[in-house]
Amino acid sequence: MTVTRERLQMAPSLVLTPAVVAHRGASGHRPEHTLDAYRTAIRMGVDDIELDLVSTRDGVLVARHDLELSTTTDVASRADLAHLRRTRTVDGVAQRGWFAQDLTLAELKTLATRERMPRTRPANTAYDGAEGVSTLTEVLAMVAAESVRRGRGVGVLLELKHADHHDRAGLPLDEPLLRELARHGLDHPWARVTLMSFEAGILRRLAGRTRLPIIQLLEPGDDVTPEALDRIDDYADGIGPHTSMVLPRDATDATGPPSSLVRDAHRRGLTVHVWTLRGENRFLPRHLRHGDAPDGLGDLTAAVRAMLDAGVDGIITDHPEQALRARREVSQAEPAG
Ligand code: G3P
Ligand code: CA
Repeated sequence: MTVTRERLQMAPSLVLTPAVVAHRGASGHRPEHTLDAYRTAIRMGVDDIELDLVSTRDGVLVARHDLELSTTTDVASRADLAHLRRTRTVDGVAQRGWFAQDLTLAELKTLATRERMPRTRPANTAYDGAEGVSTLTEVLAMVAAESVRRGRGVGVLLELKHADHHDRAGLPLDEPLLRELARHGLDHPWARVTLMSFEAGILRRLAGRTRLPIIQLLEPGDDVTPEALDRIDDYADGIGPHTSMVLPRDATDATGPPSSLVRDAHRRGLTVHVWTLRGENRFLPRHLRHGDAPDGLGDLTAAVRAMLDAGVDGIITDHPEQALRARREVSQAEPAG
């Protein structure tokens, strides 16, 4: 399918689709999961921000991608927290470090955030130490304030990380999640909140407890046969596949024609939000790289256009400004014929 101006304008939604979603905020420009990263994305004009959630020891949901905190905070340099260093097995992988589930919110609030990929994104390190870790409550309050300030709604895609692991630790994520959403008046289907996870268990549970839209995240190797999509359709409203599941790469690392996944999902009424489009050469297909430097910027706008042509409903990206540009270009193009 080629994306036409008609498709963009006739989307049966108050929100322009395909949606542009800022992955962990505008994480190509600021350290991920900082309020600055989210605000930067909102300023750029994104439809939604995406955030990952894990639990503290006292059951508070915070915006972090990893349970282990040393990659994105200064915890390893904190002598006063050295006693909390542990070896934990998370989803089958043993790790040594400082885990959110071992720190109270008060302890976590003393940490400073920093850039995850300092060699790839050196400019982002200028913001290291500028912010602490944010709670879900703080992010929702910021989004509400920005929506009012800018006179437009901004959606949030909430990804529940390591849900089974949290269950086993006695810190189920669904309880504080639903409590917080209710407290903010956001637990209703028009609230522009979407719930996501790679784990079907928590999504099935949530489907029975909320009418918010649900996205089943998928990674390469996951079952996407028609039978599997039928099972997902029992509890979810959409899927969130890795880019390579929509536009597979060939032996030369270039993308070719789309797989049948978008069509198969749409036949069942499932939306498709694809992750994660990143601007640096190391993440792009070979034919869209500019030069040889892995951390140099390539043609992400073309990569986004290819995804729009493949028919996806949402682009989850570290560089939202480029996805917005691609969508604008497509919407301004003359209709074919
Ligand atoms: O939005 C989905 C995407 O964020 C999943 O991957 O590892 O970045 O959380 P990850
Ligand atoms: Ca995520």
